[in-house]
Amino acid sequence: MNLQAIIDFVQTQLKNETTGHDFYHGQRVAKLGVKLYLSDNPAAHADSRVCDIIRAGGLLHDTIDEKICPNPDQVVAQIKKLLPMAGFTELETDDIIFSIQHLSFSQNIEHHYQLPLTGQYIQDADRIEALGAIGIARAFTYGGRHNNPIYDPKIKPVELVSHDQYRQHQETTINHFYEKLLKLPALMNTTGGKKLGNARADYMRGFLDEFKSEWNVD
Ligand code: ADP
Ligand code: NI
Repeated sequence: MNLQAIIDFVQTQLKNETTGHDFYHGQRVAKLGVKLYLSDNPAAHADSRVCDIIRAGGLLHDTIDEKICPNPDQVVAQIKKLLPMAGFTELETDDIIFSIQHLSFSQNIEHHYQLPLTGQYIQDADRIEALGAIGIARAFTYGGRHNNPIYDPKIKPVELVSHDQYRQHQETTINHFYEKLLKLPALMNTTGGKKLGNARADYMRGFLDEFKSEWNVD
């Protein structure tokens, strides 16, 4: 299958994106999703069609994200035309669109959406991108863009209970690690996702220890 038209579409849609949801993030999610799928499913059983669905969904997932896209319905309509032109069936197209519409953390705070297997790999890959060195870089970029303080010991982490509260509560980027990021490994759908998620969360815990020791000058 030729995904070039999808790659071109994502590059155009995300060309002004500078908060960690750019084309390269989509490309890494696509690659990571396939890598996790192949690590969980020995090559003999791995299905190249499944790999293409994961690749397309990974590339496209943030083009309709509410944080960065002002008109998601319009973009969904474009994707609905684009996927069949790349060779996906109607059923595969619907699966990809359902997955990318329901995989975000904020969507799943109040309700847990059951994603198809391909969507589970895309979701785990997207969560892995919020962890590790890349996750740290993305968190501070996002926090800076939203004028959040790096850290404030007077602002305590909260339990996230709703989509609106997630978007509106007073936050610091360091608190975001405790409120969301370090919880991601436990939410992973797949064996491969859990393993890589845990390794990257460990790296972040090391960063937080160092951050706190540098913060507490004495
Ligand atoms: P959601 O799934 O809720 O839409 P994302 O997981 O897509 O959010 O967010 C993607 C990236 O943006 C992640 O790397 C995440 O750490 C970062 N991000 C989201 N909210 C915050 C925040 N309040 N502070 C720092 N980073 C954030
Ligand atoms: Ni993403």
